[in-house]
Amino acid sequence: MSTFKPLVFSGIQPSGNLQLGNYLGAIKRWIALQNEYNCIYCIVDMHALTINPSPEKLKQHTREVTAALLASGIDPQKNILFNQSRVPQHAELAWIFNCIVRIGWMKRMIQFKDKVGKHHEKASLGLFAYPTLMAADILVYRATHVPVGEDQKQHLELARNIAQRFNNDYSCRIASLDLGVAMKAEEKTTSGFFPVVEPLINDTSMRIMSLRDGTKKMSKSDESDLSRINLDDSADDIAKKIRKAKTDSEFFPKTVEELKNRPEADNLITIYAALADSNKRTVLTEFNIKQFSDFKVALTDILVEKLSPISSEMRRLKKDYAYIDSVLKNGSRRASIIAEKNMKHIRDIIGFL
Ligand code: AMP
Ligand code: TRP
Repeated sequence: MSTFKPLVFSGIQPSGNLQLGNYLGAIKRWIALQNEYNCIYCIVDMHALTINPSPEKLKQHTREVTAALLASGIDPQKNILFNQSRVPQHAELAWIFNCIVRIGWMKRMIQFKDKVGKHHEKASLGLFAYPTLMAADILVYRATHVPVGEDQKQHLELARNIAQRFNNDYSCRIASLDLGVAMKAEEKTTSGFFPVVEPLINDTSMRIMSLRDGTKKMSKSDESDLSRINLDDSADDIAKKIRKAKTDSEFFPKTVEELKNRPEADNLITIYAALADSNKRTVLTEFNIKQFSDFKVALTDILVEKLSPISSEMRRLKKDYAYIDSVLKNGSRRASIIAEKNMKHIRDIIGFL
């Protein structure tokens, strides 16, 4: 039974402009959690290195993602918002974890297999080790809760296994060391140094799909810009993309059951429900219409209403790099203090002089 003080940690890759799926599937959740928990939110630029971005693009995307998070309502005073590479304790702990994790565990990681396909001999070691760095991101803060999408569930399971393995392997040292203020009396009653992290997995209905193909996830890497709503799209862009969004030839559905086998219709209604903080059933009963084109007008209106404050703030922030950089610098300074305090104990536990 864990008695660790709840602490939320999550990360997002700086791999380009954020889209509606990131907002509804991740950021909106982060914003809700900041009212309930202490939260540490990290732009994982070291993870982004696994896809070999140019130095200019990496910098630009790190700032863009920070701007998107700030514009969406992440409070950098209340939370810690920073970029991973500024806190080298992540890499230090990842190395320690690399020596704990078995290759057999890593070979089971579905995301790695999906990403490299048949070309695993050509993949970088960094891509293979990606999940141990992710475990280090979380555990260097001894975070207890991690909001992520369904696709990251296996990586979190690995982080739990690493935490348990470390706690077991070093249980004698952990028990005998005086860990002082960092491990308050109540924490010493738990089974180890690291908490066994709990995933906060998204509601699966929060998977936002491509506007061109309702069976594919909306993604910033899709070739077609018409497939997604970017967080900095103008009202005109949004109207055009929704007008062109794929639907089928049937009438607007009246019940949730009718959405089965109609992925494009389902997706547009999911988006509306998420933006309206409602659910699909309610949306379907509210709209007493026949034509999908009428629904598209309402969907465009709500998208513009919810996203235009974000996009205009993003445009403003993008002209103020000095502010964005200062937020990240300040966040990194605060993150480093916690990470270093924990790393001192970890070095001691494993026997580094
Ligand atoms: P990515 O952009 O794939 O690195 O994802 C960053 C975060 O946004 C993760 O938590 C994803 O689960 C979430 N996310 C990305 N795309 C979508 C989508 N189409 N629907 C729901 N969540 C998404
Ligand atoms: N791998 C996560 C993703 O692709 C990003 C990430 C890196 C992360 N480190 C993390 C998420 C730690 C949660 C906790 O979405």
